[in-house]
Amino acid sequence: MIVKDKHLTTIWYDDSSDKVKIIDQRLLPHEIKFVELNTLPDVCFAIQEMQVRGAPLIGITAAYGMYIAARENSDTNYLKDASIKLKNTRPTAVNLSWAIDYIFSKIKNLNNDNLLNTILNLANQMRLDDIECCEAIGENGLKLIKKLYEKKQSTINILTHCNAGWLATVDWGTALSPIYKAKRNDIPLHVWVDETRPRNQGFNLTSWELINENIPNTLIVDNVGGHLMQHSKVDLCITGTDRTSSNGDVCNKIGTYLKALAANDNKIPFYVAAPISSIDFEISNGVINIPIEERSPDEVSYIEGKDEFNNISKVKIIPENAKCINYAFDVTPAKYITKLITEKGIVEPNKDSINRLK
Ligand code: MRU
Repeated sequence: MIVKDKHLTTIWYDDSSDKVKIIDQRLLPHEIKFVELNTLPDVCFAIQEMQVRGAPLIGITAAYGMYIAARENSDTNYLKDASIKLKNTRPTAVNLSWAIDYIFSKIKNLNNDNLLNTILNLANQMRLDDIECCEAIGENGLKLIKKLYEKKQSTINILTHCNAGWLATVDWGTALSPIYKAKRNDIPLHVWVDETRPRNQGFNLTSWELINENIPNTLIVDNVGGHLMQHSKVDLCITGTDRTSSNGDVCNKIGTYLKALAANDNKIPFYVAAPISSIDFEISNGVINIPIEERSPDEVSYIEGKDEFNNISKVKIIPENAKCINYAFDVTPAKYITKLITEKGIVEPNKDSINRLK
């Protein structure tokens, strides 16, 4: 995407310096800072502390993490250990293990001489594939928005949760990709952006992306969506997913489930933009089987922003000794999901349709 006349992606490999670079998303929207990932601990830190986040981007970062690990030591045991460390950084998004397992499947019969270059080529190709996949999701999702616009003939109001834009992938995004495509097709749009506590990816990242693309948007706190839906102010919802089970249950940022319930009650379509890399074909019941990441309670008890002196600072918003728990994701059962928008087309959230994507 273009930011201040520059085409940015969230992660790239700089051939001339042999360095992997990322945007440190913890500082957005206040500062655009590029960071180098030089060691395996750098990569683990970047994923765990959310310098990079969003399921597809976590997967691509892990792929480069395998290259960085192999550069440190190409011994099989070292690489296996590195893969476990990477997989443990964030347990919910299946893209992480998908990317690592894919790399292992391609290198298992290689000798040491070819290993490093092969892993780098694989990671570079996965990065390019991610861009292509997200653009295809955009084209497929555009068909749904177009259809609605042909019927309504006025501004389409879309509600989204968390950030499933280009910052969550390499470029384009998943849930926001159809919105970017609709904008380029001159469909009048307005996006309701859920705050997405505790880390506020909606306020910090989604709104910043939409403002950069000149797409009208309004920020709302997390509990507003239901009210808007009751008053016909939402035409459709689109979210991303961190892991979708083979029966179509969707795990996504905490709070997605409640939006889907409200959408169902108000007969508003609830679409999930799902790259096939985020489908877990091994799991048949998302509610029971998907591991839900629990993050530090500090993310709940503190809030971060710019203070009156323009410094980024953190303030505590709870009483001393109050207890918090921080579930990062929830699972929306398939019955509340209208369709999945994948790179291969728009599919029903059920076993048969999902299996055909394999
Ligand atoms: O905790 P995050 O910011 O990594 O969570 C991101 C989301 O929940 C996204 O909706 C999901 O990863 C899909 S991103 C295309």
